[in-house]
Amino acid sequence: MPVVRPAAGAIARRLPRGGRDNETNHTLKHFIFVLTGAGVSADSGIVTFRGAGGLWEGYKIEDVATPMAWKRDPALVWRFYQMRRAQLPAVQPNDAHRALARLEIEVRASGHGFALVTQNVDNLHERAGSRPVHMHGELARFLCEQCGLSHGDLTDFRTDAFRPCPKCKFPRVRPDIVWFGEVPYRMDFISEALASTTIFISIGTSGAVDPAAGFLKEARSRGARTIVHSLDEPGNLSSRDEFLPGNASEVVPRLVDDLLRSLS
Ligand code: APR
Repeated sequence: MPVVRPAAGAIARRLPRGGRDNETNHTLKHFIFVLTGAGVSADSGIVTFRGAGGLWEGYKIEDVATPMAWKRDPALVWRFYQMRRAQLPAVQPNDAHRALARLEIEVRASGHGFALVTQNVDNLHERAGSRPVHMHGELARFLCEQCGLSHGDLTDFRTDAFRPCPKCKFPRVRPDIVWFGEVPYRMDFISEALASTTIFISIGTSGAVDPAAGFLKEARSRGARTIVHSLDEPGNLSSRDEFLPGNASEVVPRLVDDLLRSLS
């Protein structure tokens, strides 16, 4: 599958939400950076992106996940994302999401730094108790291209009716998803966190999409311990990484137990 890399400066849009940048404290003993991808939610029943013959739930990515697709056929793109939004209430966090929430709480409580950055647009990390940075946006939010308002809403899953912006009344908000060719959210925070990272953990991502695919290499080159878990070996794996194969809901709880033991 062709991977469209976000061009520098492409589609400058959206201010970062929240204010967690002050959490990167260089004086902490450890800074744990967790990057998750579709594999962490696979055991909850959400299909991953790659693997099914290059199709994503039967759709070509370029037909549904690019700004051009939204311009060309907004009805198709809207239907696709509305169907994915409608799945959210029906799926539950699994043991991997829960273990990562526990890791975040216990790591912070013991005075270390922590960041959970997810490429996933589902809401399973937060429902398990984590505070993730959604670098690729969120299915549970909409974005107005007219006034820039991003707002959360998980009601009304109709596939045949666009929604107006609640602020400026523009007739058609878009999913608040970072599409191919767009710049992911919170890159400043992510760069700062990577600079502090002593333990980098990659979970359930194929390492195929930049810039997230490059975080592992960056952490490695800065001397961090690098732990990679996935069902299959991701493309960005190096012999220097500790690779833990298997299903996330089984492997991640064990990994978290081991980490917490080693930090205490
Ligand atoms: N447990 C752990 N890992 C799993 C499981 C599982 N049960 N099932 C699949 N995996 C692994 C696969 O081996 C693969 O490495 O999850 C990874 C899923 O890879 P992708 O489908 O490519 O998903 P991801 O890496 O998150 O995609 C990155 O690409 O399409 C874009 O923006 C979209 O955020 C997405 C980005």
